[in-house]
Amino acid sequence: MRKRYAIDDLNEESIYIEIMAEAHKTGCWLVHTEDSVDSTQNWVKGRLSVLPDFSVVIAAAQTSGRGRLGRTWASPPGGLYASILLKPSPPPEFAPRVSLLIALILCEILEDAGLVPSVKWPNDVIVEGRKVAGIIAECGNTSSSWFILGVGVNLSSVPDVPGRDHLPAGAWCSSGPAPSPHDLLARVLSALEIKWSNRESDPLSGRVDEITGRLWNKGKRVKISLGSETVIGKVIGISDAGSLILSTDSGERRFVSGELLTVHEGSMRK
Ligand code: BTN
Repeated sequence: MRKRYAIDDLNEESIYIEIMAEAHKTGCWLVHTEDSVDSTQNWVKGRLSVLPDFSVVIAAAQTSGRGRLGRTWASPPGGLYASILLKPSPPPEFAPRVSLLIALILCEILEDAGLVPSVKWPNDVIVEGRKVAGIIAECGNTSSSWFILGVGVNLSSVPDVPGRDHLPAGAWCSSGPAPSPHDLLARVLSALEIKWSNRESDPLSGRVDEITGRLWNKGKRVKISLGSETVIGKVIGISDAGSLILSTDSGERRFVSGELLTVHEGSMRK
């Protein structure tokens, strides 16, 4: 099991460099703790040249937390806001699959605590009809290839997220006692290294059924918004590549991206 190495004080530059080198050599998660940052994704992106593989940053709050599709991620104190750096990057086509793996890991942790979560494809975790967690995977190539996995979980309060036409935000604490952000991060990191020990291996290998079994609205009709087009279909499952499979009027269709929305039966049915 990979050790976790906590970095709280970045002021002592010489100590920091020593610790980073040591942590890198001994194969540790190098966990940086910050009070407040704009976005942990940005924090890592701004330090790509100095941070080693397996660096992690956890912030107590974010002032400009980022979600998918250019959205903001409300990040008041009390939630988990963390980004994990893998450098070199796994194959970029794994990005959506790693997001689904993290969603599965979060579901299993929530289930251990007696909650009943589901995975809202492509990257959300839902509890009692509300979005409790979101995941973002970004990759690129700036001098060397990198992959940053961002995880946000509402733990101790429901953030105020105005004007969204999708699911309302929720929080773990509405359904039971929530862990601390650091405890939850430790559990996510442990599960991640157990379930995906080799970044060249397919993160979904052997897990498609586990995810399909937890899919939000499985067997029900949903809308998928593709920007210019909206398709209605029944949720069947996910493919080996992590695509969403819907049964539509024109047959089974697979989607690599899109936004799932609830169908308001009556108003939408022809
Ligand atoms: C989504 O649901 O659209 C993804 C949300 C991801 C939020 C996390 S919080 C930690 C990391 N830093 C960010 O700015 N975003 C991710």
